[in-house]
Amino acid sequence: MSQLTDMFSECWSKLEATGSKDSPLRNMTVCNYAADDINAYTVVLREANAERNTLIFYTDHRSPKVEQLQLNGKVTVVFYSDEEKMQLILKGNATIHHQDEVSYWYWRKDGYKGRRSYLAEPAPSTLINEPADGLIYIKGKKFEEHDPTGYENFAVVVIKTNYLEYLQLNREGNRRAKFMLEDGGEFQGAWLIP
Ligand SMILES: Cc1cc2nc3c(=O)[nH]c(=O)nc-3n(C[C@H](O)[C@H](O)[C@H](O)COP(=O)(O)O)c2cc1C
Repeated sequence: MSQLTDMFSECWSKLEATGSKDSPLRNMTVCNYAADDINAYTVVLREANAERNTLIFYTDHRSPKVEQLQLNGKVTVVFYSDEEKMQLILKGNATIHHQDEVSYWYWRKDGYKGRRSYLAEPAPSTLINEPADGLIYIKGKKFEEHDPTGYENFAVVVIKTNYLEYLQLNREGNRRAKFMLEDGGEFQGAWLIP
């Protein structure tokens, strides 16, 4: 295998290692089109799949970003690990899964502890008069993690990537490479001056 091929696999291995709280690539910044604006926000990387070249995050279906992504699925995603002094930039197309087999599978997935946040009322991004999280109405009430309430607001965003750019800062010499999806379905790599 060439150095570039190794590098590509190594990047995806790092992404796939997410899930552990200590993973340096646990959070990512996603940027998408929002009419004539650019939206950017942090989300938790829930899953990366090197074979499919996909990244997954969860969100509330009522969030404005969902409609933005449905209108234009083009996204740029940025990861930065301060520990490793490494930046990964990926580009691709996002698909929203809502009340389908995919969203149901992730909703039921063991180990997921964030289901309660999908019960927020009113919806995310609604203007309010006082600081609040929208969950006061269920405060103190019993909540089972597998309670189906909230599922109707739960959406899974699958990003199919077609570009990956790697940058490693290093005292001995910075290194940068990009990998682009070719028509034949293979990623073609090239080194770049950092
Ligand atoms: C560390 C961190 C992790 C976050 N993870 C998520 C996430 O996984 N999904 C999500 O929708 N929002 C997440 N957010 C909140 C988003 O950055 C954003 O503020 C929110 O989704 C509002 O989006 P909206 O403008 O579409 O309503 C996270 C924020 C932080 C600071």
